[in-house]
Amino acid sequence: MTTPAHFVPASQLARSARSEEVVAKHKKYLWPSVTNYFQQPLVADHGEMQHLWDVEGNKYLDFFGGILTVSVGHCNPKISSKVSAQVNRLQHTSTLYPTEHIVALAEKIAQITPGNLKQSFFTNSGTEANEAAILLARMSTGSFDVVALRHAYSGGSALAKAVTAHAPYRKAGVISVGISHTWKTSFRPGPAATSRRSSLNRFKASADSSLRRRSTSKSFLRS
Ligand SMILES: Cc1ncc(COP(=O)(O)O)c(C=O)c1O
Repeated sequence: MTTPAHFVPASQLARSARSEEVVAKHKKYLWPSVTNYFQQPLVADHGEMQHLWDVEGNKYLDFFGGILTVSVGHCNPKISSKVSAQVNRLQHTSTLYPTEHIVALAEKIAQITPGNLKQSFFTNSGTEANEAAILLARMSTGSFDVVALRHAYSGGSALAKAVTAHAPYRKAGVISVGISHTWKTSFRPGPAATSRRSSLNRFKASADSSLRRRSTSKSFLRS
């Protein structure tokens, strides 16, 4: 999960009964789909900006950031103080009632996003964001087909699982109506406009052939 600030082989890091117990209980009480990295996963205890400590007290320089979610550092006081103030003031009202804060955030996003992107839809997870993006694309284009990249991960809902092109994340089967997968095209170096155009053309050709293949075979991805 993270890299030690001074390299120490994992086998030499102190392990205590405490972390063994957490790992054992994780295996026992959580769904196996919630996988951990490594045979002896690091059991995180606390963090401070770029540093993370495990339950044994080992300190790590964190290059991982919790998969795109902690890009501002662990327990960043600027963020923590606002979160703490809000949960002590008002926690949940559903989206059926407006609050000053949701409006203020949407307004700020409208000011910094380009073009006509002036309205926001807030979600709790990447899965929901991808669901919303596909819904929006379908509504906007009137087209139902979605072409996704092979080897991409999109989330755990039924639709996001169908878009995901990794067999281990497609367990128990998927409903793939309207979903095709294509190879990722490499963005070759070269004059920016030409390179972008030829990459898009390659992607389009590959996507077209995926759509044709889908119409002739039921599914070409193992689930
Ligand atoms: C590229 C990408 N899309 C979607 C997701 C799903 O996000 P979530 O786990 O928040 O639903 C992830 C999560 O790792 C992701 O990396």
